[in-house]
Amino acid sequence: MNFSNKYSVLFVCLGNICRSPAAQAVMQRLVDERGLTDRFYLDSAGMGGWHVGDLPDKRMRVHARPRGYELTHRARKVQASDFEDFDLIVGMDASNVDDLCSMAATIEQQDKVVMMGDYIRQYPNYDYVPDPYYEGSEGFELVLDLLEDSCDNLLNRIIEQNQISR
Ligand code: 4NP
Repeated sequence: MNFSNKYSVLFVCLGNICRSPAAQAVMQRLVDERGLTDRFYLDSAGMGGWHVGDLPDKRMRVHARPRGYELTHRARKVQASDFEDFDLIVGMDASNVDDLCSMAATIEQQDKVVMMGDYIRQYPNYDYVPDPYYEGSEGFELVLDLLEDSCDNLLNRIIEQNQISR
């Protein structure tokens, strides 16, 4: 698949019901705010298939809504074709990145994999986006804080490296 010459980014976590659909929504708003909606194709997926077809976790939706994010993504599993279709594949933690790199069929495909934590600037204690699934409310708020910071920095990097403009 080719996404009509848009720059395509796939966000990946374990279940595709907490972190990666939130990352997709956070990044979509940043892209829209910069008038770049037509330039990007964003999606998310999970390493595991336990929640395929489900909406994001209710707790993630409840915490995202007051910040203005409506999470409507339906969970899906990462598939081999994603490594051909997407320009960039962003894992939320080291385990996601390791799994993605193992799945990549070529060095070129491996080179598409980056870690969201590498773009966190405002939270020096975090170099990954922690799984909130077994955490309380603070875990979900932390995920959103980390994603709002890291998505902004990642978007700057993508725009700069690919000379993307309106
Ligand atoms: P996520 O969180 O990877 O941020 O979507 C999880 C969701 C579900 C499970 C694990 C993590 N699970 O084991 O079902």
